[in-house]
Amino acid sequence: MSTVLSQKHEQLLHDELGDTFDPNIHLNYTPPSALLTMGDLGLGANSTTPIAGSVPFPFLSEEGVCAYRRAMIQPEILSRCAQPYGTGTFILRNLAKHSRFIRDLWTHPETNRIISEVAGAPLTIIMSTEIGHTNIQSAGHTVDDLIRELKVEPRRAPANVVEYEDSDPLHDRPVIPWHYDSYPYVAVVMLSDTTHMIGGETLIKKGDGSAVKVEGPALGYCVVLQGGQVEHLAARASGTTERITTITSYRAAVDGIYDNSYISNVRPYSCLPDLYIEWISYRLEKMKAEIQNMQAKIARLPNSDSASIPLHEMCEFTDQQVAYLTRTVRQMVDPFLCADVRRRFDVRKVNSVGRTWAHIRTQAQFKDLLPAVMALTMEWKPFQLYIADWHYTQHMITSGLSSSICSQQGNFAWCRDRANDFLFGDELLRQGLKEVLLAWLDWSDLLCLDQTHGCGDKSG
Ligand SMILES: [Fe+2]
Repeated sequence: MSTVLSQKHEQLLHDELGDTFDPNIHLNYTPPSALLTMGDLGLGANSTTPIAGSVPFPFLSEEGVCAYRRAMIQPEILSRCAQPYGTGTFILRNLAKHSRFIRDLWTHPETNRIISEVAGAPLTIIMSTEIGHTNIQSAGHTVDDLIRELKVEPRRAPANVVEYEDSDPLHDRPVIPWHYDSYPYVAVVMLSDTTHMIGGETLIKKGDGSAVKVEGPALGYCVVLQGGQVEHLAARASGTTERITTITSYRAAVDGIYDNSYISNVRPYSCLPDLYIEWISYRLEKMKAEIQNMQAKIARLPNSDSASIPLHEMCEFTDQQVAYLTRTVRQMVDPFLCADVRRRFDVRKVNSVGRTWAHIRTQAQFKDLLPAVMALTMEWKPFQLYIADWHYTQHMITSGLSSSICSQQGNFAWCRDRANDFLFGDELLRQGLKEVLLAWLDWSDLLCLDQTHGCGDKSG
């Protein structure tokens, strides 16, 4: 993985007063007692491995947990990496750039071997910025509160848990609603004491629409999930005053396997210049490897036998590379548009725009307003690119060329007879372009049809 570190960041890594990662001291791996397969869930297996996810398994030793927390809670690291994410929640990004221990832990060959073994496929980390994305549920409101509150030792004291005892994760307000991850695989590690924690499980949607519950990991335990292929929900945890999970995202390290990644979920809260540089670098690197493989394949063909040229395979290959490159650039949404959306809407509003769109579509006035809105949209320059994509997808549906459409919302089949119901907003959502969808809804005033969002109230 190519990591660009500025001199300042290198200095920070070297100055870190933390531990030096040693897999013999900091890891405590025992294989998971059970694995969930795509077949168990009644889902089609269209990926590298039949494994959909694991139950929690021991991963970090006690020393490993403390060293990880020690690396993370240093004031200079928290002040650089932490940001509030709604009430009582913080996220930490780019930890690997600032902490040598965390970078070395996740990039060590032994760690990679463990995660790959559990997933049932050789994996590689998506990019440096996706090492150790950390979610912290805490009582504090500001990063300074967080700096004061977090300690190396996980907090043991339970909160009052009585009122939560009958909680139902499917009906209580979840921390993260039903979704697919932006990346194919995740490894989630628990860094808090969960002895008195209630909830915090992951629910996975089966092919028949029912849900299966996977217990949340205990302190130092890890869960591996093929989150880009299985729809899941993170249930709210209670009974604890602190909950820290740290997550690293992966893709299959297998040539010829289409990489189904997006940056839709992380773009609304990431530093875009950093994210975009890492994103395009890894995408081009992956594409380069694919092209080199194809070159090698062609070089092995017998020289004089034109019948041996696999034209069908060549067409499929080039289509795939064009689609890959198109997705790569479409994911890099104009930073000015993103900045404007961030200024006016809170990150949760951006991330829930799919539900907002679904609600707006059901409103009585929507059908009356849409023709005029689309006429104006066709003329507005920033949307031209997406209009062309929308027409292409509609063509794929009506022509029957594609039975299922690749989407950030998972693959879905769109009935040919209902091609006209595939609207511009559906196309933006299909590509995971949440900021563009929200900007368009706001610009066109369709957002006013969402009763949860008063017009003129841009705070989200
Ligand atoms: Fe997820």
